[in-house]
Amino acid sequence: MKIKGNIVIGQSGGPTAAINATLAGVFCEGKNLCEGKIFGMLGGVEGLLAENMIDMKEYLKTDNDVELLKRTPSSYLGSCRFKLPQPVEGNEVYEKLFEIFEKYDIKGFFYIGGNDSMDTVKKLSAYNKFKNTDIKFMGVPKTIDNDLVKTDHTPGFGSAAKFVATVTKELVRDSLVYDLKSVTIVEIMGRDAGWLTAASALAKGDDCEGAAMVLLPEVPFDYEYVKSRVKELTEGDKSLVITVSEGVRTKDGKYVCELGSEKGTDAFGHTMLTGTAATIAAMLKKDLGIKTRAVELSTLQRCASHIASLTDINESFAVGSAAVKAAAQGQSGKMALLKRVSDNPYICETDTADVNEIANLAKEVPRSMINERGDNVTEEFITYARPLIEGELVPIFENGLPSHIKR
Ligand code: F6P
Repeated sequence: MKIKGNIVIGQSGGPTAAINATLAGVFCEGKNLCEGKIFGMLGGVEGLLAENMIDMKEYLKTDNDVELLKRTPSSYLGSCRFKLPQPVEGNEVYEKLFEIFEKYDIKGFFYIGGNDSMDTVKKLSAYNKFKNTDIKFMGVPKTIDNDLVKTDHTPGFGSAAKFVATVTKELVRDSLVYDLKSVTIVEIMGRDAGWLTAASALAKGDDCEGAAMVLLPEVPFDYEYVKSRVKELTEGDKSLVITVSEGVRTKDGKYVCELGSEKGTDAFGHTMLTGTAATIAAMLKKDLGIKTRAVELSTLQRCASHIASLTDINESFAVGSAAVKAAAQGQSGKMALLKRVSDNPYICETDTADVNEIANLAKEVPRSMINERGDNVTEEFITYARPLIEGELVPIFENGLPSHIKR
C-alpha cells in the first residue's frame, strides 16, 4: 500500500547524534511508500504552524547526502519545545494545523522526539477524531535519556552512551596522574531517569577501573553518604571519578543543582538542570579539603557524532523506516519502537505501540539494575547496555574534520 498524497516530518525536543539517521529512515522509506512530496517542518510543530517547511527531495538529492545526514549531529530540521493545548473541539491551534494539512495535502505526519513530542502526536490524533481525516499520525522515538516506555531503548541513547563511557575512561586515566587526593565529578544528562549516567559504568574493564560511584536520580541523593564514601575511597592519596546525573534529587525532592542557585524552566515547565557536579564538587572541597573538579558534559554528549554507535545509527534509521511502513499499512496514533529479541546474539526488531500509552511517561532505571548501596549499577544493566554501543560509523573526513550536511 502507498500513501496517496504528501507527508511531513518534524524533529522536536533535545537533539541526539542519531536523530538525523531517523530522519533519513523516514525520508528513504517515504520515497518508497509515499506518492507525493516529503515536507520537513523547520522547528517542529511551531515551524509547521508558521508554514515554515522545505521540500526534502530538493535538499537530499543523492545517496551521499543521505550518508552525510546520518553522520550529522543535532536536528537537521531544527527543533522546538512547544506544548500543544488540550485537544478541545474548535481550538484555533488545531484548526490552523488541520487547515495546513489540507492546504499541503498531508496524508502522513511523522514526529521524531521524546515523551513531550509523543504528547504532540497523541493530541493531534485525538483532534483528528473531530476532523475525521485519513491522515496518519506517527511518533518516532529519540532521546539520549532512554526514558520512553514500551521501547527496549531509544534511538540516540546508544551513541550518547558510547560517548559517555569513552570520556569516563579518558577522565579516569587523567585523574590518575598525580599522587594526590582528588575527585572529578562528571555531570551527565537525563532529567528523570539515570540511564545515560548508568552508561558511564560501561567504562570499567581490564584497562580501566571505572567510576568509583555512579549516582542516579532513581536513588535519593544523600550527601552525608557520598562524603563519607569519598573520604574512605581517597585514603592513601587516591583519585576518584564520580559520575552523577543532572537530575539527582535529595530525599525531599530538591534537585541537587538547585542547592547552589534557583534555576529557570523551559516551555514544558521543566527545571533547567545544570551545575549539579559543580555544586557537589564545591561541597566536597569545603568539607573534605581535597582537590575537586567538575566536568559538565552538557550538550557534548548528545552531539558527539564522531563516536556514534553503529548499532544506534542503524536502529535509528530502522525505526524511521518502520514508522512510514506502519502508516502505509493504515496505522495511526502509534509510535514505532525497538523490541529486543535476544541479548546474545543481540537481536532487535521494530514494532509499534499506542502513543497514548507512551506520551508524558518516563521509564526509570529499575532497582534490579542498581546495586544495593545505590551508588553503582549491576551486571544486569551492563548486559542490557553493552550491545547498544557496539560498532562505529566512521565520519567522512574533509580537511581533517568530520563533514556534515548543510541545509
Ligand atoms: O530531552 C533530552 C535532553 O537532552 C535532556 O537530557 C536534557 O535535560 C534536556 O534535553 C536539555 O534540554 P535543552 O537543550 O532544551 O536545555
